[in-house]
Amino acid sequence: MAETQFTPRVFSGIQPSGGLTLGNYLGAMKRFVEMQDAGQFETVYCMVDLHAITVWQDPAALRQNTRELAAFFIAAGIDPAKSILFNQSQVAEHAQLAWIFNCVARMGWMGRMTQWKDKAGKNTENASLGLFAYPALMAADILIYHATHVPVGDDQKQHLELTRDVAQKFNNDFGTDFFPITEPVIGGPAMRVMSLRDGTKKMSKSDPSDMSRINMADDADAIARKIRKAKTDPEPLPDTIEGLKDRPEARNLVEIYAGLANTTPEAVIAECAGQQFGTFKPRLADLAVERIAPISARMRDLMSDPAEIDRTLGKGADRAREIATPILEKTYEIVGMLRSG
Ligand code: TYM
Repeated sequence: MAETQFTPRVFSGIQPSGGLTLGNYLGAMKRFVEMQDAGQFETVYCMVDLHAITVWQDPAALRQNTRELAAFFIAAGIDPAKSILFNQSQVAEHAQLAWIFNCVARMGWMGRMTQWKDKAGKNTENASLGLFAYPALMAADILIYHATHVPVGDDQKQHLELTRDVAQKFNNDFGTDFFPITEPVIGGPAMRVMSLRDGTKKMSKSDPSDMSRINMADDADAIARKIRKAKTDPEPLPDTIEGLKDRPEARNLVEIYAGLANTTPEAVIAECAGQQFGTFKPRLADLAVERIAPISARMRDLMSDPAEIDRTLGKGADRAREIATPILEKTYEIVGMLRSG
């Protein structure tokens, strides 16, 4: 069978479950903007509200968090005229394709997902069915656009492997090459931003300690305080990158610096070798404030006109549907769903 050529297209999503962190910015958003601006791809970005409700969300907060996330996208540099920007539930094709994938993916695949194990904890009996099926909806998000590339942070790697498995199994089962085998785009510094209190744990909005993370909504004082108090060891910065091995907290701060400065950890080490944290931390705090403060100020500005955000997302959803509808129709045809008229 001749290989199908797919339009170079990027898809990625973020959950509107509140509390955006520096991890979301460096691991995801910053690269969303770079891929948009590179001009080599069509870029499709989504607030995945259907994923958010796999755990309880207060309805009013969910609406507010979806708008706030839209403001984050735009404030960070996503231009709704260049990229397609919308919230998932406005494009029904995501949920429709997800059902087909629920019937392609296997229970065993889902059971092996570390996010499922972490989020469901010991009490799997009481976790929602949606939480278990979460990765099939994620595969649908990506494949409903025939996306070829998906930029994500390191924690989503396993879900993207599952997306490839779903595409492969669908293609095999139906003797087609209809779905692309998507490439994850995970690279550069700060693919895994760690907690400021424990360099072995991911920086996360769900960590009970607010000191463990930098929130995109933090003001300059809070950012500086959190970096000043970040856990480190007593040694100065080493003069080679290998010297960061077994120093997870030091390594994390170097990676954050590199991510914010658009450089590499090697370049940071070359510049700052031998510095004590007493010197390095204030530099990092200044850089973080310089990068984050304009984004949070612009977010506040955008949030003052929620109706405009809603209009933008509505237009984005219309454009998304133009791509998704024919792909869903073709999928139904491949699967053997009767269409009349
Ligand atoms: P979510 O909402 O948890 O996170 C959004 C993005 O931010 C990245 N990220 C991080 N990167 C580096 N260090 C961190 N500490 C950190 N914390 C978060 C995540 O890797 C992600 O790229 N399942 C996804 C949402 C999703 C999706 C999709 C993504 C749904 N459908 C389709 C890509 C394609 C999630 O929960 O991301």
